[in-house]
Amino acid sequence: MCGIVGYVGDKEAASFLLEGLAKLEYRGYDSAGIAVFDGAKIGVEKSVGRLAALRDKLKGHELKGTMGIGHTRWATHGRPSDVNSHPHTDCSGDFVVVHNGIIENYLTLKEELIENGHSFKSETDTEVVAHLIEEVYNGDFVASVREVLRRVEGSYSLVFMSSKHPGTLIATKQDNPLVIGVGEGENFIASDIPAIIQRTRRTYILNDGELAVITKDSIKISNRQGEPVTKKIFEVNWNAEAAEKGGYEHFMLKEIHEQPKAVRDTMSQRIAKDGKTIVMDELKWDADYLNSFNKIYIVACGTAYHAGMVGKYYIEKLARTVVEVDVASEFRYREPIVDENTLFIAVSQSGETSDTLAAMKESKRLGAKTLAITNVVGSSIAREADQVLYTWAGPEIAVASTKAYTTQIVLFFMLALYMAEIKKTVAPERVAELIGQLQKIPAQISETLSDVEPLKTFAKRYGFNDDVFYIGRGLDYHVALEGSLKLKEISYIHAEAYAAGELKHGTLALIVEGVPVIALATQKSVYEKTLSNIKEVKARDAVVIGIATEGDEELEKYVDHVMKVPETDELVIPILTVVPLQLLAYYAAITRGCDVDKPRNLAKSVTVE
Ligand code: F6R
Repeated sequence: MCGIVGYVGDKEAASFLLEGLAKLEYRGYDSAGIAVFDGAKIGVEKSVGRLAALRDKLKGHELKGTMGIGHTRWATHGRPSDVNSHPHTDCSGDFVVVHNGIIENYLTLKEELIENGHSFKSETDTEVVAHLIEEVYNGDFVASVREVLRRVEGSYSLVFMSSKHPGTLIATKQDNPLVIGVGEGENFIASDIPAIIQRTRRTYILNDGELAVITKDSIKISNRQGEPVTKKIFEVNWNAEAAEKGGYEHFMLKEIHEQPKAVRDTMSQRIAKDGKTIVMDELKWDADYLNSFNKIYIVACGTAYHAGMVGKYYIEKLARTVVEVDVASEFRYREPIVDENTLFIAVSQSGETSDTLAAMKESKRLGAKTLAITNVVGSSIAREADQVLYTWAGPEIAVASTKAYTTQIVLFFMLALYMAEIKKTVAPERVAELIGQLQKIPAQISETLSDVEPLKTFAKRYGFNDDVFYIGRGLDYHVALEGSLKLKEISYIHAEAYAAGELKHGTLALIVEGVPVIALATQKSVYEKTLSNIKEVKARDAVVIGIATEGDEELEKYVDHVMKVPETDELVIPILTVVPLQLLAYYAAITRGCDVDKPRNLAKSVTVE
C-alpha cells in the first residue's frame, strides 16, 4: 500500500504534508518521511515508526518551503528503517521521489546504475527510480520522467520533485491510486481523498498511464503517448470518515474488494516471464534441501490456520510431502516431534501473534528450519524466521481477515508448485496449466464481486437464524471452515463447518426444518458424494444455499438457492469460493446491526497468549 502526498502553492508545504499523511496512515504506518524545497535545496526528514516519530524529529527544525512531497510506508522491499523510508533521493540530492507499489525490475536496474557509478543507501526498490531520473536527466523534467517510466516495470504511483525545477511536481500512476486536489493558488497530490478533503473537494482522479505536471496555478495532464487529456473535475461529497474507507461503508468491505489487486500483487514477480514456472527468489531451494525434510509443520491461528489447512492440501497433493497443520496455541504444549529434519512454516497476517511466534521459537530451538508467510515486513515473526514469503495484501484494518487469507492461499499454492517443480512431482505442462488458471483469478474475483444482490437477499432472509451450518468435502471443507468463522466473528450467529461426509456421524441430529446450510460443491473429484450429503440435509428440510461453479446445472435441482463462481481448476477455486462467504458474513452482520470492523471481544493483533 503506502500513502503519498504532495503540495505546491504559497503556504508552508510541511503542514499540509503532515496533515495529509496523518489521514493516510491506514495505508501504511511503519515509517514516514517528507521532503521540502526551500527555494535553494531540498531538505529531507524521515523516520521509522508512526508519523508521531517523524513529527518528533521535526521539532525545532521544521522544513521550510512551499513545495514538498511526503510518504507513509507499508514496507515491501527492505525492512522498516529510517534509511528505507521515503522520500528517496539520487546521488546529488537534486531529485526526490515517493512511490507506492512495486518496481519489479529494480534489481536489474540497480545493477546497471551501480555500474554507472550510482551508490545506493537503502534496500528499497524505489531508490532506483531516484537514481534513474538522475541518470537519464536531459534538462527536460517531463521527458526525463517519461524515460524513467519507459524503463521501469511494475505497479506504481509516483511523485517526482527536483531542485532544478522549482514550483513543479510530476505525478503519475500505474495500478495504484493517485488523486490531485485542485486548490486556488495551490494544488495537492495524494494517494487517496481523505488526505486532501480538509483543503479541497475538487479533484482529478488519475487513470493508469496518465502523467500530471502540477504547479501552484496549473495542472496539465497527458496520456502515455504524451497527448493532452481533458479530465472532468470530480467533486467529493463524502465526509472524511467515508473517504478513508474509499467510499465503502466499512474497511472489511473495502478489503474484500481489494482482493483482485492483493492477489495480483502477491503473484507478481513470482511467475516467470513465460508464465510456465514459479520463481521464488526469496527461497532458492533445491532438491537436496527439500529432501532433507521428513516433515513440514504449518502452524497458525484463526483465519491463518484455515489458510494453513489449504496449504497442507496443496503441498501434499502437488509436492507429495507430509504436512501437519496445528493451531499455534496447542502446538508447543504437546511436545511436538520437531528436529533438524523439520520445516516449520508460520502463517500470520500481522506477524505479531504471540502463540505463532512462540511456536516458531520453540521449533527453532529444537533445530527446525523456519519459514514465515506474513503480510508485515519487519514484523516479529518475519524477523525470527530463517526465510520469509510476504503476501503483498497491504494493510488489513478490519478485524475480520479477508484479503490476507486469499493471499496466503495464493502463496501456498505457488509454494507447492515451486516445490513440485523442484521435486518433479508434477509434469511441467500441468504446472504451466495451473499457473495459467491462477493468473485468471484476479479478474474472476472481480467478476464474483460484481453481483452481490443475491447474497444481500440471503443475508436479510436468514440473518436472524440462530445457527448456520457449512459443509463441503476436500478443499471445499477448508473454505467452509473459514466461511463459518467469518459469520461467527462479525454477525455473532452460531456457525459450524463440517466435512460433509462427517454429518451422519453426529451433526445430522442438529439439522431440522429451516436451518440454513451453506453447501460448497466445487470439487469435481468428490462432487457426487457431496451431492449425496446435500440430499441428506435436504431430506431433513434444511434450507440449502449451494456454492457451485459456472456450468454446473445439476446442483440447483437439489438446493433452494445457488451462488455460482467462475469455472477454474478445482485446486485454485478456494480463492474464489471464499469471496461469497465473506460477503454473506458481511451482509448478515449489517442485517443484524453489528459493528463489522470492530466485532465485540476481538482485536486485530493478538499479542497475548
Ligand atoms: C479472523 C482473524 C483471526 C486471525 C488470527 C491470527 O478473521 O483475523 O482469526 O487470523 O488472530 O492473526 P495473524 O494472522 O495476524 O497471526
